[in-house]
Amino acid sequence: MIRPTLSTSAGTLGVSSRGGAAPPPPSQLAAREIYERIAANIGKVMQGQTGAVRRLLAALAGGGHVLLEDFPGTGKTTLAKALARSIDARFKRVQFTPDLLPSDILGVSIFNQRDQEFRFHEGPIFTNILLADEINRASPRTQSALLEAMGENQVSVEGERHQLAELFFVIATQNPVEFRGTYPLPEAQMDRFAMQFTLGYIPPEEEALLLTAQQHVHPLDSLRPCATLAEVVSLKQAVESVLVSAELKRYIVDLVGGTRKAAGVQLGASPRASLALMKSAQALSLFEGLDFVTPDQIQELAVPVIAHRVVMDPQARFSGASGRGVVEELLKKTPVPA
Ligand SMILES: Nc1ncnc2c1ncn2[C@@H]1O[C@H](COP(=O)(O)OP(=O)(O)O)[C@@H](O)[C@H]1O
Ligand SMILES: [Mg+2]
Repeated sequence: MIRPTLSTSAGTLGVSSRGGAAPPPPSQLAAREIYERIAANIGKVMQGQTGAVRRLLAALAGGGHVLLEDFPGTGKTTLAKALARSIDARFKRVQFTPDLLPSDILGVSIFNQRDQEFRFHEGPIFTNILLADEINRASPRTQSALLEAMGENQVSVEGERHQLAELFFVIATQNPVEFRGTYPLPEAQMDRFAMQFTLGYIPPEEEALLLTAQQHVHPLDSLRPCATLAEVVSLKQAVESVLVSAELKRYIVDLVGGTRKAAGVQLGASPRASLALMKSAQALSLFEGLDFVTPDQIQELAVPVIAHRVVMDPQARFSGASGRGVVEELLKKTPVPA
């Protein structure tokens, strides 16, 4: 297996894409094979989570980031590690706490006595896969430092810009509503995540298999890389060329725009949601061996892509309405292009 260059110095992309070394984008067929290989490899560790793995990889291939909301012990860390290992990626985990500072994530400039100049020391954000655990426990200032960097794919420290890796994927986790810490993510921050979904408890038969699989050693320990970072980057490129008809673009916009007019909604989803829905639906189509999007992929991803961005007004929330309910209703009543 060819290992991509993993430079850690500031400004490098994490994947050698310059100097003519970058492979051409794979054919749709090759891209699908890369996806299947990665999904199968993660499946050696993750029991009963094929749907979650599919969504996770659709977000990754569509260039987005993911927010996992779930109880402790449901496999979030294991999933992030299994992905990182499968694609031979650099991986960092940051536990978010109230005293975590922006510089603990981004990095810091330190004066070097010998050279008589400031040198930037990269924070954990300079990686390929970042697990931001319990993101809602950090202060809003620290959350927004991460989310801004995610949006721009770069970090600005003391007026100097540092490019993040070309393949940079954040998996953030937060506890379900009742367990939320002091700082729930503000609406504007939720919008930075392409998708939010839960892993959920798996059926007892699957959980029993998990016990057998981990009886002696953890299957993560023996998980081997099955794809290169360069292949994942090329998968992202292949996603861009999946066709989306004008009618389906309009369908996406109608679903997302519908949240802005729905009853009980204080703040609907933005065009960023429309873009995320298009890109992740393109990825899912590619995974299914199609070179064009159909309404199926859009419908499958509408809730994980749109619902978390919808803010209900207090009264609607009190009576049990949710973003999920709004999107499910829109799926029922929005005309589907033929
Ligand atoms: N669906 C699953 N498949 C495989 N292992 C799982 C699954 N759910 C939980 N586990 C196992 O349970 C333990 C706790 O999982 P972990 O990933 O640390 O949870 P979390 O990060 O959500 O708190 C690990 O040993 C993990 O492998
Ligand atoms: Mg964990």
